[in-house]
Amino acid sequence: MSDFILHERDEDFGNSIIIMEKTGKSYGRIYWYTDNELVCYLAGLSVDKNFLGKGFGNQLLKKLESIAIERKALTIHLWVKKNSWQYKWYNRNGYVYFGEFDSEHDWLIKQI
Ligand SMILES: CC(C)(COP(=O)(O)OP(=O)(O)OC[C@H]1O[C@@H](n2cnc3c(N)ncnc32)[C@H](O)[C@@H]1OP(=O)(O)O)[C@@H](O)C(=O)NCCC(=O)NCCS
Repeated sequence: MSDFILHERDEDFGNSIIIMEKTGKSYGRIYWYTDNELVCYLAGLSVDKNFLGKGFGNQLLKKLESIAIERKALTIHLWVKKNSWQYKWYNRNGYVYFGEFDSEHDWLIKQI
């Protein structure tokens, strides 16, 4: 498992942690609302274009999920483009349909 650098910040609505793989190959964000810290949200997962398809996305997802678990969240939510391979990737990792985000994206949820 790669090491990650963490950057925490206060938001108007709650808190965010932005993480980056220590050599810059991936980054992503986890956030939650002050009024419901049992729910975490993932956003902006990204792997450097020169290192796609080498497992860094899976490591990034596991690291973000581990933060949610450490925080004792009960669910993780994210939205993703409909009919995309990323949608299927999240499905394989336990995320299921939770509702429509907009005409092109759905909310997914994972119980942890
Ligand atoms: C999504 C993203 C973070 C995945 O990172 P990655 O390092 O390429 O992914 P990994 O190599 O860890 O592969 C993860 C899984 O996706 C699959 N996958 C990777 N690239 C794929 C592609 N182009 N088409 C189909 N499947 C693909 C892998 O086979 C793997 O499946 P498995 O875990 O069942 O074996 C990366 O592609 C990215 O930054 N994409 C652009 C931004 C984006 O789409 N972010 C997510 C928005 S919700």
